[in-house]
Amino acid sequence: MVSTHPIGVQDSGRQYLPITLENSSPNQELFPLTAAVNSRDCLEIGGCDVTALVQEFGSPLYILDEETLRASCRQYQDALERYYPGEFQVLYASKAWNCLAVCAIAASVGLGIDVVSGGELYTSLQAGVSPNKIYFHGNNKSSEELQLAIKSGCTVVVDNWLELHTLASLTQDSSSQPLSIMLRLTPGIECHTHEYIRTGHLDSKFGFDPNQIDEVFAFISKQPSITCIGLHAHIGSQIFEKQPHQDLASVMVDWLAKAATYGLPVQELNVGGGLGIRYTESDDPPSIDAWVKVICEAVVAACLEKNLSLPKLLCEPGRSLIGSACVTAYTVGSRKVIPEIRTYIAVDGGMSDNPRPITYQSCYRAVVANRMSAPLTETVTIAGKHCESGDILIKDAQLPKTEPGDILVVMGTGAYNYSMASNYNRLPRPAAVLVCNGEANLIIRRETYQDLIQQDCLPEKLVAKSE
Ligand code: LLP
Repeated sequence: MVSTHPIGVQDSGRQYLPITLENSSPNQELFPLTAAVNSRDCLEIGGCDVTALVQEFGSPLYILDEETLRASCRQYQDALERYYPGEFQVLYASKAWNCLAVCAIAASVGLGIDVVSGGELYTSLQAGVSPNKIYFHGNNKSSEELQLAIKSGCTVVVDNWLELHTLASLTQDSSSQPLSIMLRLTPGIECHTHEYIRTGHLDSKFGFDPNQIDEVFAFISKQPSITCIGLHAHIGSQIFEKQPHQDLASVMVDWLAKAATYGLPVQELNVGGGLGIRYTESDDPPSIDAWVKVICEAVVAACLEKNLSLPKLLCEPGRSLIGSACVTAYTVGSRKVIPEIRTYIAVDGGMSDNPRPITYQSCYRAVVANRMSAPLTETVTIAGKHCESGDILIKDAQLPKTEPGDILVVMGTGAYNYSMASNYNRLPRPAAVLVCNGEANLIIRRETYQDLIQQDCLPEKLVAKSE
């Protein structure tokens, strides 16, 4: 029997840091909540030894901790229960990681799902998510996607005039119930996050310009085949400030009051997602509880002030639900020492399984999972294996001395890693396992070389003749 102890009891100068295990908000932790070190000095997650997982499932490997994911879902729901006196629904923004198992877990805890494409919608439906809990976003949904949405019975979050007109014409001959839609508006709220992941400022490709709100409401109020049941906004991602969401809540309640003047039966407000997570020690996001509290209090206060009854409150976090629940395990390979300049160590993945550092200059933390109590003795740059100089996972990481074959674990890889993964340089995408109580289940099978050429077609005239 392997004895374990929770991460956090070691001295400073060691590989891992104190974490608060009781009532902790997963988005504030560097490690998944079940992370521990066993008597072999190896990192365990969900009761599974990470080095054993790599032996069994291969490397690189996404390791998703079910307990952390479920805890984050529950914390959103508990906080809404605590702070919001009206109806509410938490949606999982599945763009963070859309696959059958993750959608099924989110749904099993009672969450709805936010999807942004026919592919995400299809996956959610296949995972058994009830269509009345699926919300379909996107700034350029195709006519086929809209038809699929109508057929499946999910709620379409309408983003622009073209979509509104397409829906009006797709539904005009229908004798069934009017189609329920939500409207996405751009709130004109600035927040401090990377430019690419800011969406709420006026110069954004998403949502209706709020200066056109009267025209939009007037148009919808004349469409017998469409009912507008809710309003939506999302201001950005990886946000640590609470003020922008507080401001958002009151702007949205103003829109709600306006919708009422057009006789629209708007009963739902969706404030989007955006709460950040701790990727490194210097990140300090608010807890899930604190984020939900600010929003609930702002919505309640604004409704009271305007004498409006409380809408059903929706939020749709992605990163803060799943980001901290997953780590990626890599195998250490080559080392390049450039005296006085830098030491690179290379791993067997990189920008194809985690494109965030090269895309957003995102920072991550890593540990050597097979020597958890080893002292930190060197500063190295962790490089991927792609033919691209910018394929660097972590600059200047503090690590113990590594050897080829060591297992390097990068934390906080649950959100926007697998979902943005590619086959650049024809690397097969890694497998993903779900760990819980000492059991590991494959949730995404590793791609094979055969998978890589699966969609390729070789015209007959190019088939090499053996002569
Ligand atoms: N709702 C809408 C309409 C969104 O556009 C997003 C994220 C979310 C909810 C979820 O936001 P979250 O809670 O995850 O912050 N690839 C980027 C992030 C892009 C976020 C896009 N929209 C990254 O890796 O940082």
